[in-house]
Parts: sequence; structure tokens; C-alpha cells
Amino acid sequence: MSGAKVLVVDAGGRGNAIAHAFARSPQVEAIYVAQGNAGSTLMEKCSMAAEGGKSVKEIPAMIAFARKREIDLTFVGPEGLLSEGIVNSFHEEDLSIVGPQREATILEGSKCDAKDFLKSIGVPVPAYRNFSDQKEAKEYVSQYYGDNPDENLVIKADGLAAGKGSIVCSSEEEALSSVGRIMVAPRLFGKAGRRIVVEERLRGRELMFFAVTDGKTVLPLESAMDYKRAFAPDETVAIRLFNKLSGNPNLDNNPNTGGMGGYSPHPWLDKELTETIMTTIVVPTVTRFKELTGVNYSGMIYFGLMVSEEDGKKVPRVLEINVRLGDPETELILPRLETDMYDLSRAVLDKELDAMELEWSPDYCMGICAISGRVVKPVTSGAQEERPGYPGPHYTNMPIRGLDKVDPDVLVYHNGTALRTDAQGKERLYTTGGRVLTLVGRGGSLEQARARAYENIKKIRFNGIRYRHDMGL
Ligand code: AMP
Ligand code: GLY
Repeated sequence: MSGAKVLVVDAGGRGNAIAHAFARSPQVEAIYVAQGNAGSTLMEKCSMAAEGGKSVKEIPAMIAFARKREIDLTFVGPEGLLSEGIVNSFHEEDLSIVGPQREATILEGSKCDAKDFLKSIGVPVPAYRNFSDQKEAKEYVSQYYGDNPDENLVIKADGLAAGKGSIVCSSEEEALSSVGRIMVAPRLFGKAGRRIVVEERLRGRELMFFAVTDGKTVLPLESAMDYKRAFAPDETVAIRLFNKLSGNPNLDNNPNTGGMGGYSPHPWLDKELTETIMTTIVVPTVTRFKELTGVNYSGMIYFGLMVSEEDGKKVPRVLEINVRLGDPETELILPRLETDMYDLSRAVLDKELDAMELEWSPDYCMGICAISGRVVKPVTSGAQEERPGYPGPHYTNMPIRGLDKVDPDVLVYHNGTALRTDAQGKERLYTTGGRVLTLVGRGGSLEQARARAYENIKKIRFNGIRYRHDMGL
């Protein structure tokens, strides 16, 4: 009997890690990744989804591909395609696909509506107000700082902004200018900034919490400690230079990224906190969403939480919901999954999650994202152009060296790479994005996993390569 064929829809490192999890299933014969990247072609059983030599990118082409190749199951990574309704389109064609339908993606697609929904069902969120008028928002900001001189605000674009749509402020001036930067043309996050959430800045510890649901049963996944800021806190010179080059007047703001790496298991997510989060946040969100909208949420879901210590108890509050797995969290978590990924996905589709018990390796996985950092490039005679690097403007198409020197026990997931032929006719790997590679070291302790990851990332070279040195300390 031949094995199952899986289509993974994702262009980044998360897609590499999902494909890698399917590849470990003895039931799976082949995994195609759309649109994938160079990493998708370098893993066992995996290749890029292509038709007539062209990579499959749009939803209709994915459907045609799934039909022609007799794909048994499709698994979707990114929020953009989910919001476009890829799941609805596959369902119309009677094709099996794991992910929430379009109607459920509002939970990520509108931060304003998601906060209103959570508040209405009694899920704890920070105090917030939604605005579609920048003048009213600024008046509220000024009033807030007048009333609460020791507190701060976070300003969030309502719509999808590749995980970068929130500005954590440290002063009234910063909050006021952030409202302007998001809402007034040229809007920093485009039309995602037509509405904003203005939210109290919570103190506490941040936690990304992942779960999987078939709409009836919700199971927690493992979690990861994640480093969202672009720089280590003591890299003050680099932070100021980044902001100067990005045109951000708030020179000391350490910018948020989609994530610079981290490790799993999470150091302080114990059984009790997992239970609290499941009963007060995750289960009510899924069940009440169905009751209020009639929409059955199915697939992966992840909650960005801030956990505060109040009267000796840990109190989690929701900062954001995502209707998918995280990137790079997936690269840190999924290598530890010992349950068969194909069985897990089938259980979601067949609404049989209640019969599943997820198994995880006790190992630590530490992942470091190598990003396209600051580069000064000569442009014309004598002139130079300087770009600050991810998460701001950055150069791509830089040749990558050293992957052949990485130890075989270290996982290399590609976030933004492509294989191209150089002037000498040799096939080489090039950077194509802000985040380029995530190297994952594994070990019986965090120290071991950390040492494996940092020893190996030193072997990678490309112009502008940068990564955080302080993770896991
Ligand atoms: P979000 O886009 O809502 O996930 O926010 C991105 C990041 O900004 C979070 O991961 C936190 O680090 C930070 N953040 C967001 N909201 C708050 C808040 N209310 N208080 C403190 N930090 C926040
Ligand atoms: N790591 C953040 C995200 O995937 O949204």
C-alpha cells in the first residue's frame, strides 16, 4: 500500500517545521510545500509544490494541485491565506484541509473585534479602547497619561501586520506619535491601521500558548519561550542606530519582531497554569465563539498572554489571538512532538481529538533566527545606501555560506531562502527575507540545547547576518 500525500501551505520556517513533522510519520510518503522555500526541498520526503516548473501560489492552483496529485490532507500555516478563505475553498471542493474557516479568522484579523468578543464572554484582557479616529485616540492617550502618570500604553493596528502591528510605549509622547504613525498616511502598517486598539501596558511575563481543536475537544500543545524584541536589552547603540535609519523618532524603542527565536519547553508553564489558561481562556474562546457566531473553530489556535502575579496567584490575560501556529515557535515546539503528525491532523478532521493523547519528548529545543541585519551597500560611484535590517528595510539576495558545516544533529529550518544559479553556473543558497534561517539545537537540558544552537549558528555566513546572543540565559 502506498503512503499518504500531504500538502503543507506555508512559505517560511514554520512550513519547514510542519513538513518535517509530517515527514517523521511512517504513514506519509510525500510532502509538497506551497509555496515553500529552499529548505522545503532539502528535507526527506519533501519537495516544493510545482506545476509545469512553476511554484504553486494561489488558492485555485493549490486546489488543482491537490486534485491532480491526489493529496490526502492539506495543512495551512499562515493567517493571510486563512483569512482569504483557503479552508472554505477546499471544503467546497470536498478536499481535506486542517485550519479554521474564513469566518473564524476574525479572531486574528481584527484586534478590535477580538478584544470586544473576549471581553463580552468574560475572558480576561487588559483594559483597552478601540478607535477609528486619530484625534479621539490622541485625546484619550493624553487623558490616560494625565490620570495614570506611572503607567503606559500599547498602540495596536487593528488588522494583519505580519505580527509587527503593536507598539509598546514608554511615554506619552511615544504613545501619541505611535497613534499618528499607525493612523495617519503614510500609515506604518497600511490599512491595518484604519482602526486601533489603545491598551494598558501590562507588567508580567509573556507566554505564547498553543492549542489544537476539532471544535469539540481542545488540547493544549507544548509552548515556547519566545524573544520578540529585535535586540537584547543592553544593545542600546544598535537600537538607536536601527531607529535612526528607520526614521523612528523614538530612538530607544527596541522594536518588536515576529520573533527572534527561543526555546521549548517553556520554563514556567506548569500543569496548574496550563489548567488555568485552558479553563479561563482557551476553552471558553472556542466554545463561546461557536455559540455566538455558529462557526465551529477547527485547527490550531494560539494565544499571546501576559501572566501577572496577583495575591500570590498567576493571572493570565490575552494580548492577542492567532488562528494558526506561530513562526518561529513552531520550529521550537514541533521537533518535540512524538505523536504522529498525520494521526493528529486526521483526528482534527474526523473530530476525534478526544481519543488522542499528545506525547512530547522531554528534550529542550533552542532555536536562533538568523536575520538580515544592517548593511551598507555602495550604490553608484562613491554613494552608499544603508538599511537598518529586519524588522525594518533590509537587503536580500545575499549568498549564504556554511550550511554544510552545521552538525547533523542541529535542525536547520529555512525562513527566507532560495536556491539560484550564480554567475559560474553553480547552484547556491541566497537570502530572500528578513528572517533567513532558524537553527535548532537539541539537548537534555536548556544549556546543552543552547550550546548546540550557538556553536552552530557561528558557522553560517551571509552579508548582514545578525542574531540575538542573549536567548536562553
Ligand atoms: P501583539 O501584536 O498584541 O501580540 O503584541 C506584540 C507584543 O507587544 C507582545 O508579544 C508583547 O510583547 C507586547 N504587548 C502587546 N500588548 C501588550 C500589553 N497590553 N502590555 C504589555 N505588552 C504588550
Ligand atoms: N511569532 C509570532 C507569530 O507567529 O505571530
